[in-house]
Amino acid sequence: MKIHFGGDYNPEQWPESTWKEDYRLFDTASIDTVTLGVFTWGLTQPAEDVYDFTVLDAVVARAVAEGRTICLATGTGAHPAWMARAYPEVTRVDFEGRRHRFGQRHNSCPSSPAFRRFSVAVADQLAARYASAVTAWHVGNEYGGACYCTLCAAGFRAWLRDRYDSLDALNDAWYTRFWSHTFGDWDEIEPPNALTEHWRGPDHTAFQGITLDYLRFMSDAMLAGYRAEKDALRRHSPAPVTTNLMGMYKPIDYHRWAPHLDFVSWDNYPPDDTSQARMAFTHDLMRGLKGGTPFWLMEQTPSITASRQVNPLKRPGVMRLWSWQAVAHGADAVLFFQMRAGRGACEKYHGAVIGHSGRDDTRVFREVAALGAELSALGPATVGARTPARVAVLFDWDSWWTLEMTDGLNRHLRYQDIVLAYHRAVWESGADVDAVPVTASLDGYDVVLAPALHMLKDDLAARLSSFAARGGTVVTTFLSGLVDTHAQAFLGDPPLTALLGIRVSEWDSRDPSVSNPVALADGPVVDARLHFDLITPLSAVVVGVYGADFYAGTAAVTRNAFGDGEVWYVGAGLDAAGVSWVVRQALGRHDLVGPYADLPGVETAVRLGTDGTPLLFLLNHHDSAAEIIADRDGTDLLSGAPVTRGATIHLAAHDVMIIQSSPRH
Ligand code: GLA
Ligand code: ZN
Repeated sequence: MKIHFGGDYNPEQWPESTWKEDYRLFDTASIDTVTLGVFTWGLTQPAEDVYDFTVLDAVVARAVAEGRTICLATGTGAHPAWMARAYPEVTRVDFEGRRHRFGQRHNSCPSSPAFRRFSVAVADQLAARYASAVTAWHVGNEYGGACYCTLCAAGFRAWLRDRYDSLDALNDAWYTRFWSHTFGDWDEIEPPNALTEHWRGPDHTAFQGITLDYLRFMSDAMLAGYRAEKDALRRHSPAPVTTNLMGMYKPIDYHRWAPHLDFVSWDNYPPDDTSQARMAFTHDLMRGLKGGTPFWLMEQTPSITASRQVNPLKRPGVMRLWSWQAVAHGADAVLFFQMRAGRGACEKYHGAVIGHSGRDDTRVFREVAALGAELSALGPATVGARTPARVAVLFDWDSWWTLEMTDGLNRHLRYQDIVLAYHRAVWESGADVDAVPVTASLDGYDVVLAPALHMLKDDLAARLSSFAARGGTVVTTFLSGLVDTHAQAFLGDPPLTALLGIRVSEWDSRDPSVSNPVALADGPVVDARLHFDLITPLSAVVVGVYGADFYAGTAAVTRNAFGDGEVWYVGAGLDAAGVSWVVRQALGRHDLVGPYADLPGVETAVRLGTDGTPLLFLLNHHDSAAEIIADRDGTDLLSGAPVTRGATIHLAAHDVMIIQSSPRH
């Protein structure tokens, strides 16, 4: 048992004569896992009544003969050309209402009966044929986007009928007395797109309820397609089924998908090379989809991407560092896109383990091979390990969608920015974090952060209250807990009022250039921007006050004693120093600030091996070496060097250690 190592391998794109060489190089790099067939539908089903598995048979047979672990895709991430011609319904209608023709990928309408029939059939064929060869199934590819066709409109209406007992209930939920929208017949309802409810682009909707439900429906419609293929696979094969997710991907609510994934896998393509905290959070979010069970890093580039305006190269050591970061946060597989560079089309310059030259003396190949050797040497130590986090960040797609589609809020406020700011403060403090849905049990945590949690669903208010009552610390912010599941404002005091011990009477929102200083009691004076709550404290104490404008001297940050716990409310868009100060207060109350909190660039993460052995990951994201005082006795699993508590550890630039504690720790 070891961490799977390898990635997307598309040998159907080049002559069979090179396959042998591919595997020779895979051996050199300790590559044990290949993801096959991700975009092979056009090849395996060249016509409606014709399956031709000649090439895929050879691809799979070779991987089997070479003893690799096979992750086999159903290939339905792009439909064949004949299908679009014979069944134009399989293509999508976009937000502007345009029916697309054949082309691109991720191009199928989720409500198309033809797509459903053919995708299930091909999955069935593949499973029957290759069940014995496959370790894991990869359905489709990066589900996403949306369709606004008439089939989707019909699907939407059916979904609504299922959810709402009556049109009256729907009209109530959507608040349709506004602007003469009362629906008298289900068939009057249309998908909210540029021709109907959105007048200034996707983030501007007249009715949040309609748009929210369409997002939920679309997420479910795509999920239905995934599930149908999964069922077909399951008829022939017990192997676990996944699809590659995209981390913080707005259009799909992965919490709705999670129960249907046998394990989570995701593709990590950070926007830039300063995204270490963001990647850490995204790994935590992906791990949180299935209650903390390990996930697969299904894709990352070994070097560059090809899809951006500029495509910076991963610096020497960074691919290794980010791979270990994934493991530190719960990955049991480290896979790449792509194993060998194709010769044509838009990904020919995308990074690959084996480049066009086919050489094994490139920097990228050598770094991959070195990592492969390291993973092999490590063996099973981290496989199946869990993360013992005492801190939870609540992440909620409904709140994300709602916050960014609602008029009247500052359009510069972005949900991800707010969540990431709070997460970064925890990350820099060296505390492990679970990023979990609002339905997760809060029992195991000391600190719960709910940044910009706009929508308050189900019994969350009650659960947060009992969490605080038993001694937990809650940190929440402006615009949290203000709307119900249909995005309607609460009448009277919102449900979190008693917990927060404050009332928000008004808010001011300003251009990003306007700041208002906030003085924190026994803390720094920090900057606040974008959003400013005007707060009336009830039972809470005032911790931070505004320094300017007509509300100078009034509360911007408060803390409420609630049972044995404490509840922080941050009413303004504090800068990083301000957020960090608040978060450190909350963590400090539970002694959760790590020993390396003040060493910028050094990330720590803990996993507990399946036998309970603590594994402390130290990751140096800096371009320069770090000196660290060991906080425990143990062994660095990567170098084999002993570690002694109190001794100085020298962690080179971009270097990694995994300290396995000795038994007496
Ligand atoms: C995605 C896809 C892959 C490939 C890579 C390139 O993650 O799943 O097929 O396009 O991006 O970065
Ligand atoms: Zn459609």
